[in-house]
Amino acid sequence: MAHKVTVRINGSRYQAEVEPRTLLVHMLRDTLRLTGTHVGCVVGRCGACTVLWNDVPVKSCMVFAIQVENDEIVTVEGLKEGNELHPIQKAFWNHDAVECGYCTPGMLMASYGLLKNETNPTEEQIKRAISGNLCRCTGYRNIVEAIKDAAARMRAGEAGSAKQAV
Ligand code: FES
Ligand code: FES
Repeated sequence: MAHKVTVRINGSRYQAEVEPRTLLVHMLRDTLRLTGTHVGCVVGRCGACTVLWNDVPVKSCMVFAIQVENDEIVTVEGLKEGNELHPIQKAFWNHDAVECGYCTPGMLMASYGLLKNETNPTEEQIKRAISGNLCRCTGYRNIVEAIKDAAARMRAGEAGSAKQAV
């Protein structure tokens, strides 16, 4: 039996009809066509599907769509402002922290979840924040450097850094 879900995503109100077993990642991608969130393992291991749920990074394959009723979700589509990339996105670009890009939406959202609450994270905090996100390509070094750079950009007030989960 279909259930109606009402949820705010990236500041806009969405409604969807889903089955009780529908996963959040599938509602985002298949029903609402927000395909920036990637789907990989679907068992909570890879982190490609990471989004912010009420400001907390979660693996959206581990959440049923009906659980987010009336809540706030931020996906990778919500990071940029207009045509301006978020400082985290710019830092990933500048540090070559992207190769195939499959892990990237999840890495960006895990980083965003960290940097919203911790403006000057240690390398240890950065590594912990992305410890649930697998990357097969980069070896992680450039990703860690990009997150350090993103933190500095956000502290300096670079455009887009004031953006909050809406
Ligand atoms: S698809 Fe969700 S953790 Fe891999
Ligand atoms: S860039 Fe390919 S999996 Fe991370």
